[in-house]
Amino acid sequence: MALFSKDLGIDLGTIRTRISEDGQVILQEPTVVAIAVDELKIVALGQEAQDMHGRVPESLEVAYPLQNGVIADYEVTEKLLEYLIKKVSSPVRVFRPRVMMSVPYGVTSVERRAVHEAALEAIKRDVFLIQQPMAAALGVDLPFHTPTGNMIICLGGGASQAAVLAMYGIVSAETVRTGGLQLDDAIMTYIRRKCGLIIAQPTAERIKIGIGAAVPPDEEQSIEFQGQDSVTGLPRPLTLTTGEIVEALGEPLSQIVEATRRVLEKTPPELVSDIIDRGIALCGGGALLDGIDKLLTKELGVPAYLVDNPMTCVAEGTSLSMQPGVYAKIKRNLPPV
Ligand SMILES: Nc1ncnc2c1ncn2[C@@H]1O[C@H](COP(=O)(O)OP(=O)(O)OP(=O)(O)O)[C@@H](O)[C@H]1O
Ligand SMILES: [Mg+2]
Repeated sequence: MALFSKDLGIDLGTIRTRISEDGQVILQEPTVVAIAVDELKIVALGQEAQDMHGRVPESLEVAYPLQNGVIADYEVTEKLLEYLIKKVSSPVRVFRPRVMMSVPYGVTSVERRAVHEAALEAIKRDVFLIQQPMAAALGVDLPFHTPTGNMIICLGGGASQAAVLAMYGIVSAETVRTGGLQLDDAIMTYIRRKCGLIIAQPTAERIKIGIGAAVPPDEEQSIEFQGQDSVTGLPRPLTLTTGEIVEALGEPLSQIVEATRRVLEKTPPELVSDIIDRGIALCGGGALLDGIDKLLTKELGVPAYLVDNPMTCVAEGTSLSMQPGVYAKIKRNLPPV
């Protein structure tokens, strides 16, 4: 059996791309490339390119080919997929295994086709697509094969998706282009407006992960960092507290809460009462933000909880969806290409 390459699943994320086989992640690398500006030639991909971020001369550019979960640079995405797939492919191929790619819920047919074509070109295998919330539900093992309502929110780097699932399909869902990067932006804007200090996105992300929260915490934390004074242009240290970050994140987080509210509003009442019993599953890197479960519970009156595998469940679900027993059941609910 070792000679047979297996079916693969790929979660092409704004920040990270993860490849899985039989429900296990076998590779994950940043969705990043480094390009030589003059020749438009790719000089590094994945982790190697990420390591160059903020450390390259003017002749090189570190670029992110996905934006808000959809392909912004088709050719670069194709090259990145080709590179990643080579890393996990077995040298001997006896038959052509298939690939399942995840796409955000609600993307346009053009955006979906871009993912399909890029994967076809890069991987030279049959390519299928699955909506991310469905892959996540499989990866978390939500019982959405039953006629009961299950809800999951994927809080990614470039988008957030709230979805209700039942009977192997999505009943109601919504995607907002607000993810971790938009939370970082909100922190950068807050610090510039309130404190006259300019910081870069990696610093904002470090602050968010270090002391960030979605609701005022029981115990206030603080963090010190360096920025650039917006008037003098000189470096200046600043200390911020969790309470200030909660304030900074209020607006983007309310967009996610409101999207979830709209999904619940358009869900049949029988399914909503199941969701109130079972709670809302939270996944994606953004689900690790302290207190995001409490915020959703407080605003919506529905319990929310962090899943065990928030960062990998979408990728795990993509390969699980190819298992014969599962694929036969979900295939009529997969997006067309
Ligand atoms: N402890 C944490 N607290 C808050 N945010 C976090 C934490 N850990 C990671 N993140 C955020 O999670 C985001 C990355 O999540 P994830 O890997 O799910 O994104 P992605 O799948 O690449 O993006 P998308 O699904 O939107 O295309 C980043 O914005 C990162 O800052
Ligand atoms: Mg994701």
